[in-house]
Amino acid sequence: MTNQSARTPWWRDAVIYQIYPRSFADADGDGEGDLRGITDRLPYVKDLGVDAIWITPWYPSPMVDGGYDVSDYRDIHPSFGSLADATALIEAAHGHGLRIIIDLVANHTSDQHPWFRAALAAGRDSPERRRYVFRDGGGPDGSIPPNNWRSAFGEAAWTRVLEADGTPGQWYLHTFAPEQPDLNWENDEVRSEFDAILRFWLDRGVDGFRVDAVPAMAKRAGLPDADYDDNSLFAAAEWTDNPHWDVDEVHDILRGWRRLIEEYGAERMFVAEAVVNGPGRLARYVRPDELHTAFNFEYVHARWDAGQLLRIIDGTLAALGPIGAPPTWSLSSHDETRHLTRFGRPQAIGGHDPEGAATDLVLGARRARAALLLTLALPGGAYLYQGEELGLPEVEDLPVEVLQDPVFLRSRGERRGRDGCRVPLPWEGGAPPYGFSAAGTTTWLPQPVDWAALTVAAQERDPRSMLRFYREAIALRRKLDDLRGGDLTWLPSPDGALAFRRGQELVCVVNLGDEWIGIEGDVVLCSVRLDDARRLPPDATVWLHSP
Ligand code: GLC
Repeated sequence: MTNQSARTPWWRDAVIYQIYPRSFADADGDGEGDLRGITDRLPYVKDLGVDAIWITPWYPSPMVDGGYDVSDYRDIHPSFGSLADATALIEAAHGHGLRIIIDLVANHTSDQHPWFRAALAAGRDSPERRRYVFRDGGGPDGSIPPNNWRSAFGEAAWTRVLEADGTPGQWYLHTFAPEQPDLNWENDEVRSEFDAILRFWLDRGVDGFRVDAVPAMAKRAGLPDADYDDNSLFAAAEWTDNPHWDVDEVHDILRGWRRLIEEYGAERMFVAEAVVNGPGRLARYVRPDELHTAFNFEYVHARWDAGQLLRIIDGTLAALGPIGAPPTWSLSSHDETRHLTRFGRPQAIGGHDPEGAATDLVLGARRARAALLLTLALPGGAYLYQGEELGLPEVEDLPVEVLQDPVFLRSRGERRGRDGCRVPLPWEGGAPPYGFSAAGTTTWLPQPVDWAALTVAAQERDPRSMLRFYREAIALRRKLDDLRGGDLTWLPSPDGALAFRRGQELVCVVNLGDEWIGIEGDVVLCSVRLDDARRLPPDATVWLHSP
């Protein structure tokens, strides 16, 4: 490995590239991406200059929720390949100097997992049912759900089963879709099974785990009703004092995992997906004896607004600094509207913004470049989502017949869901499938017909492309010690702008306002071409050497 191997541990300041395997590259020509496709394209990832890849779930799954419904934690989904392909991918990644993080979905299994099938067959009060959260319903005939909890995808978080004799029976809990029954983390068998799963993959060489839906794993004893005071679709919108989210007992599970992973040394890591109420709550997940890092959803969901970004960056550093946990920053993922599109909306809001709102993609692209330089200039780690380096927009006009996200299906079409950020990548050529699959293949989600200029091949030829800009920015971040190790100090800046120093000499200025602003120092990299090196236009970021 290059100079990052000298930095210990690597995950404190890594740039990590998220791969959604179904949409990255299709080597076997079935219209869905696969592990061989990833392995073949690792040189591309390496050239991007990142330190690691995170692969979203690759396990056998009925794919009700894009693979977050796992039916076997020790194998690979058949359309993605085999366990041998996974081992080959891990080795190849290491050969390229890339670390590899896989997804751990521990809050729930698929309803097709052998454990859940056994639980249904075994009936009430059985050890099989105690691995999940089964309860009797209320009312004379048990037809009222055990409590009022709501699922993240809408509707009740409980589904009633038919018992072996065909009569309506107990209810089981699912924080997400009914096909994703929640495991009971108070059960010793569940805990030891996941310890074994962690070891299975650690022994095969993975460098870390992205842990899905961490705050859902513990539930308050007695499963009391939640005190919802709005009609939010996602029940967990009320993050604190909620009996099914961010409950204290979750931290016992995390401490056990930390002890386990430390047996494999300080270079293996966890990153938590923990959407909680502010950085103070988040910090509890990354205490020294818990998970190493966590995603920063406040940053993902931020508007293009200097005041809000300043508050979020400052709040994150203030909460995580004292416990020694590195922050992380990202703009997109497989769950969010692509940020190029978000930033082109009039209000430029984050996350699941109003769909179909008028969008200026030229403005979005300009802000996306500026946001990248901000993100890469912050201390800690950064996550990139496949395709953002190509400047892909959200695909907002997928025909409804192809939509697969449970968000779409369970909201009865009210929300289109997350398929628009999961469209297969364009690699080369002038028409779909753009080298993602062999010519003539129908891809699992259709690609737009106007993506020819966005392919990797086209952007490699264009020195001003988004791809070339990403490569340059990531390479500089790797090279400049101030950017990887230095502290952050805020500098005075005009309204609507952010300015800070990293380490000794590197200054980052972000102009989110309407006025041009004066800058001082030698330009290292700028998100726009500067006609006048002393003035930064709106929606632009510059890195400066300014001793
Ligand atoms: C996480 C995943 C998301 C999935 C959910 C349920 O939020 O990122 O894609 O739907 O967990 O597993």
